Amino acid sequence: MNIILLGAPGSGKGTMAQKIMNELQIPQISTGDIFRKNLKEETPLGLQVKDIMARGDLVPDEITIEIVKNRLAESDCANGYILDGFPRSLVQAAALDTFQNIDCAVNLDVDEEAIVKRLSGRRFCPDCNGTFHISTLQNAAVCPSCGGKLIIRADDSEETIRERLRVYYKTTFPLIEYYSKQGKLLTVDGNGAIDDVYGRIMAVLKK
Ligand code: AP5
Ligand code: MG
Ligand code: ZN
Repeated sequence: MNIILLGAPGSGKGTMAQKIMNELQIPQISTGDIFRKNLKEETPLGLQVKDIMARGDLVPDEITIEIVKNRLAESDCANGYILDGFPRSLVQAAALDTFQNIDCAVNLDVDEEAIVKRLSGRRFCPDCNGTFHISTLQNAAVCPSCGGKLIIRADDSEETIRERLRVYYKTTFPLIEYYSKQGKLLTVDGNGAIDDVYGRIMAVLKK
């Protein structure tokens, strides 16, 4: 199954993508994780996107589309994948339709108040891409999955969170209508406990 996860920053795309990946045994393709890996390794791409991401803006469509096109052509995507954070603009969505057949777009609908709470306490593991929240960690510095060192993402500052939400409503939100018109939109209430949200997603995917 070729699945898109839609939703505002902090709606839980990464958290849910990892759980779906483990259950369905299909890879999570997160453009944010790809950019962050390049940033960490200081590749030319990493240097190119550094300031853009720190501001909370979007990386240009041409760059992002090319990366996803190449990544989805790899063999581990042959039996399906979960796109987390792509597409994020109408241009990206239209481009994706020229080289892939998408089965569904799951939109995680979360109240803005919860989003701010989630992002301001997020901890991220650059080693395994695990996402956690400070409220559930016994040790806020160590990844409970792999033992790696947890970080606070550079774009989780209050100012950048606000900008990411602004960019989301302006550029990404219209994708809900885009996939609805295609009959591929599955809306899920993303509020509440992680396991409850996950259960709702699996229920709509199995329909
Ligand atoms: P990206 O990494 O995709 O960030 P984002 O969209 O802002 O989304 P997040 O990763 O912040 O949130 P999420 O929905 O994954 O939530 P999470 O599971 O972590 O993109 C970063 C940047 O890269 C962009 O700003 C842009 O610059 C660039 N970029 C990426 N893709 C691009 C594209 N296609 N085009 C152009 N530029 C692109 O959860 C958040 C927190 O909440 C965690 O702490 C988690 O533990 C907690 N949590 C999750 N679910 C629950 C729950 N049910 N209850 C309680 N807590 C929960
Ligand atoms: Mg994410
Ligand atoms: Zn880890």
